[in-house]
Amino acid sequence: MIAMRPILIILLSSLLLLPSSGVFGSSHGMEGYSETGCTCHGENAGSDTSVEIIGIPSTYNSGEVYELSIVLAGGPEEAEQGHRGGFNLKASDGTLSSKDSTTYVTENGEMTHEHSGANQRTWLVEWTAPFSENEVTFTIAGNVVDGDHQPTDGDDWAVSDYTSFGSELELSDRVSQFSEILILIVLFGLPLVLLSRKK
Ligand code: HEM
Repeated sequence: MIAMRPILIILLSSLLLLPSSGVFGSSHGMEGYSETGCTCHGENAGSDTSVEIIGIPSTYNSGEVYELSIVLAGGPEEAEQGHRGGFNLKASDGTLSSKDSTTYVTENGEMTHEHSGANQRTWLVEWTAPFSENEVTFTIAGNVVDGDHQPTDGDDWAVSDYTSFGSELELSDRVSQFSEILILIVLFGLPLVLLSRKK
């Protein structure tokens, strides 16, 4: 029994260390690779693979919500069942959000596929434009996989990037930007002012 103790200690500590070392593969989603690509799945991008985002406006309207379609093409044949693809999307400004359970927003505000969403090669997501006049850059890595549950050369990835330009902010933009605060001021501030006048 005494001899078992060191083995038990090693086992327990490795179990505690497990999540932080990121052993879970990226069929559960990935962040931080939208510019470099899915390099564990092959050193270079696939020769006939592409990742496209449909719906990014050339010039965005502040505060507007845009529906974006992410489409992978090329790469290995779709597996009968199981994993077929994944992606990692980043926008330099504005807010990305999911439209369904096949995608999620990561800690850094990037977007990626859920495990249940790794069985497809197209996804729908949303982007809410910022209240800004600056341009916004989108970078995306898409991975077309063969479903062997391994990051192998059988998988092919691609990267692409897009720019959406801002336009001059008008008074109406500022009003809608701060509409919630303005409503609160009117709802709570005005009665207080009226009350204080009565005293
Ligand atoms: C944005 C980039 C990436 C995407 C979209 C992605 C997507 C995927 C997908 C869909 C699978 C399932 C593969 C299959 O069943 O054939 C997978 C597996 C895997 N990937 Fe990635 N990957 C990316 C980058 C990476 C990187 C950089 C690493 C290493 C740090 C990695 C490590 C793995 C591992 C270990 C597996 C096998 C375990 C599993 O099924 O999760 N991937 N990845």
